[in-house]
Amino acid sequence: MADLDFTDAGVVITGAGSGIGRSMALEFARQGARVLVADINGDAAQKVVDEIEAQGGTGRSRAVDVTDSDSVSALADEAFEYLGRVDVLCNNAGVTWRPFRAVWNATLADFRWMTEVNYFGVVHGVLAFLPRMRAQAGHKHIVNTSSLATLSTTPGHAPYTASKHAVDGLSDVLREELIDHGDDFGVTVLYPGLITTNIGETSKAVRRQQTDTDLSDAIAYEQIRSFDYPHNQPKPPDNVGKQVIEAIRRNDPYCITHPAPADQLEERKNLWIRGYRGH
Ligand SMILES: NC(=O)c1ccc[n+]([C@@H]2O[C@H](COP(=O)([O-])OP(=O)(O)OC[C@H]3O[C@@H](n4cnc5c(N)ncnc54)[C@H](O)[C@@H]3O)[C@@H](O)[C@H]2O)c1
Repeated sequence: MADLDFTDAGVVITGAGSGIGRSMALEFARQGARVLVADINGDAAQKVVDEIEAQGGTGRSRAVDVTDSDSVSALADEAFEYLGRVDVLCNNAGVTWRPFRAVWNATLADFRWMTEVNYFGVVHGVLAFLPRMRAQAGHKHIVNTSSLATLSTTPGHAPYTASKHAVDGLSDVLREELIDHGDDFGVTVLYPGLITTNIGETSKAVRRQQTDTDLSDAIAYEQIRSFDYPHNQPKPPDNVGKQVIEAIRRNDPYCITHPAPADQLEERKNLWIRGYRGH
């Protein structure tokens, strides 16, 4: 696996017009892959393709709305036609909310919208690409973007965290199913910590475009506890592409951009185990 070569590989990345997806697109292209750069913002996707071409790489842009299964199926059709094969699919498009809100100040629209993009966006990608990828020879890989919010509970961020937990569950089960069936097919969950992207602003813009709800009357969450954890130290997105490619080469199930919150994970693990008190 360590010698996995991305020269001429076919790579598809959603939400690749900005931030973490852009970092992955540029890095895959540097490795020699041909990249289909997909984003709801087609102009932003094309700008990333311009950057890929300026660094001597090859790519194509496509507008896609990951909440729409037909749109993602059309992306898959174009991907297999343009690239010939899809070696790596990165289901990365995602949205959040600003300001954070308590569950008691959240609306059904908040939960539905974040679930549609963050979870069903991944479901649509998996269902549209997986059968044709499984039929190919050689190593295949899906990278699903979750969040460190699922490893470290963040008050004020419930709809987002819940949608990302669904991504974790889908990815973990899919990986085991592929292992059980002898597929040469890895599934990596990407857990970004705090990465300095435009996610707050892009989320507001996409939400206005997709729904008739907005956050203008949001009641901000009153943060009580400290969030001074290593994974909340901001990092630029530039290195995330490299981290993802190394994780694919090692066939790692998890790729974390910041130090894992070991104490919190340990405490949760112990509480789960102690949850059974016998009968
Ligand atoms: N930035 C962070 O601190 C952070 C932390 C944890 C997880 N993440 C996750 O990383 C991923 C990338 O986020 P980012 O920080 O690079 O944000 P970003 O806003 O810079 O990039 C996200 C891209 O997704 C696109 N997008 C939004 N809705 C879409 C839709 N319906 N269909 C297709 N494209 C759509 C946006 O246009 C944008 O270009 C997201 O899944 C996000 O939840 C980010």
